[in-house]
Amino acid sequence: MKNPAHHNVVGHHRTPLRLSRQRRYLVYAIGWALWSSGAAWLVCHYFLMTKGPFGDTPSPLEPWWLRLHGAMAFGALWSFGLTWGVHIVAGWKTGRQRVTGGVAVGVLVWLILTGYLLYYLTDDTWRGVSVLAHWTIGLALPLLLAVHVVLGRRRAKRKA
Ligand code: HEM
Ligand code: HEM
Repeated sequence: MKNPAHHNVVGHHRTPLRLSRQRRYLVYAIGWALWSSGAAWLVCHYFLMTKGPFGDTPSPLEPWWLRLHGAMAFGALWSFGLTWGVHIVAGWKTGRQRVTGGVAVGVLVWLILTGYLLYYLTDDTWRGVSVLAHWTIGLALPLLLAVHVVLGRRRAKRKA
């Protein structure tokens, strides 16, 4: 339900919706490092395996990409919490951008759940399911956020 009162309050003063420049850059940097490390792991894993004397041998870089990814995943949790407090709840109350914003939140929760499962699933089949559910959705994250940002800016410009 749209709440006209909120719409006016938050719509006129954009500040509560936006992260400070420094924090925004930090959130973007963490996001790109997260995505790139996941993508780099995929490239190593699916394209850079070499045939060694004991079968398929992973690239020596592969575990490093995963370590970076794991570290950035913690950073992403911090970013998500920050964004939740500064942007998401206030944005929701404006009634705008709910579809792409809501889907982005859903995707983040999905990545957190499927990522968490990777630590503890030991059954090969179920681990495989979780890995696939994790990275296919993960690769699409920047596209989704780009649509959200572009639509958000266009709307903000039209209003101004
Ligand atoms: C339910 C969830 C969300 C809602 C309702 C929402 C709402 C909005 C709205 C209304 C705008 C336009 C801002 C304006 O008019 O000034 C916007 C822009 C934006 N949103 Fe969201 N958002 C959500 C989730 C997210 C998430 C999860 C992220 C990133 C992690 C995000 C990042 C951004 C960015 C970077 C902009 C562009 C700001 C700019 O540079 O002008 N949003 N969002
Ligand atoms: C909030 C977002 C994310 C979180 C919390 C997260 C978390 C995790 C965690 C905890 C792992 C397991 C690390 C380990 O086994 O040591 C993992 C693995 C992985 N993630 Fe993410 N991740 C996120 C986003 C992404 C994105 C955007 C991509 C896509 C580029 C991605 C691709 C991968 C891949 C390819 C693996 C390795 C799978 C394997 O070990 O078989 N993740 N992630």
